[in-house]
Amino acid sequence: MGNVDPALEVKQLFKEKFGHTPTHVVKAPGRLELLGNHTDYNEGLVMSLAVDKYILIASSPRRDGKIELVSSAFPEREIFSISELKKNPEAPWADYVKGVLNELRRHNVHFGGFSAAIHGTLPMGAGMSSSAALEVATATTVRQLYPFCITDTGSTNPPQRDKEGALPEMSREQKTNLAKLCQRAENEFVGVKCGILDQISSLFGKVFHAIEIDCQTISVEHVPMIGEIAIIICNSGVKHSLVGGEYNELREMCESAAKKIGVRALRAVDLKMLTANKAKLNEREYQCAYHVVGEIQRVIAGAKALREDDFPQFGQYMFQSHESSRDYFKNSTKELDLLVELARQHPGILGARLTGGGFGGATINLVKRNAAQVFCEFMAAEYEKKTGIKMTPLLCQIVDGAH
Ligand code: GLA
Repeated sequence: MGNVDPALEVKQLFKEKFGHTPTHVVKAPGRLELLGNHTDYNEGLVMSLAVDKYILIASSPRRDGKIELVSSAFPEREIFSISELKKNPEAPWADYVKGVLNELRRHNVHFGGFSAAIHGTLPMGAGMSSSAALEVATATTVRQLYPFCITDTGSTNPPQRDKEGALPEMSREQKTNLAKLCQRAENEFVGVKCGILDQISSLFGKVFHAIEIDCQTISVEHVPMIGEIAIIICNSGVKHSLVGGEYNELREMCESAAKKIGVRALRAVDLKMLTANKAKLNEREYQCAYHVVGEIQRVIAGAKALREDDFPQFGQYMFQSHESSRDYFKNSTKELDLLVELARQHPGILGARLTGGGFGGATINLVKRNAAQVFCEFMAAEYEKKTGIKMTPLLCQIVDGAH
């Protein structure tokens, strides 16, 4: 695989499995949560990056009303008709696709059958949201094959192709509606009560920019992230699966804390209010709320630091965020804590924290660019020395979202 263009690889996979060339190829990037852990479903603020690790789908329409999926990561082939979107425990990866198709149908989007080959350059279970990237790639595949335009509740006039057959770029509103649709697919079909961070990030990525999301209004701003810095992922190698249930439990803690305080979501709570209401909460509710309230403040402060190009200050917020996840939210692992502590020992580090849902997965490291190479070598060697686990740090570029 190595340096081969993944778009060629996915086309090749399609050709091998279906015997002809695909008509369309789309790619949706994975995301890195930069700052703001578990703030999204609390209607809070969060910063993320879309990065150059993707889910790609090559596709062609077909006339028999069937959808047939193959994947480079799983051996089984999945075939079903549009009117029969049911979970198959033998191919749980296909649920993300079916969930999106199901939501599109609920929005009255008319689409026909298609064959699709799925290929990823995104490490699965690393907390880089391969699931949201698959959802977004599914939605953009259907848009390419059977153009549509959705509103919050239904669909409107589809976009027109130009002379070359290309579709116009999606508006902000379209991207937001699509992100919500994909999130609903994951919440309702797959059963993970995730927030909107991952889907928004995969659609709203912008090269050299961080994405700042206000999850109360679902509005997005782009903050330049240009400088002598590198973004490096260290995957702990400990598998992370959101379907595991811990995620939904944390969300329930936050929601019951908000309810007992008498607000719709923890976004409405500041530290003073939390302290005043401490007696109403059990210990876990208080700890979770304390983390979320602090994280939202850190995102505000972090966005300011980024706008001032103050990367050392931003890095400090990343370290603080990790400590809060570790000590209060308790969604870290000993491997993630070790990765952050090792990173802290290196002179090239600016900031490090766990990224994404937690309970395994990866850390995101903000590193001085001229130290990137030695940092990677240091982390790989030290992590293996301490755990026996071989780990290859990944350098990530910030990229545009799916289109
Ligand atoms: C996962 C979820 C997101 C978000 C993060 C934690 O990635 O899918 O919605 O809650 O965890 O910030």
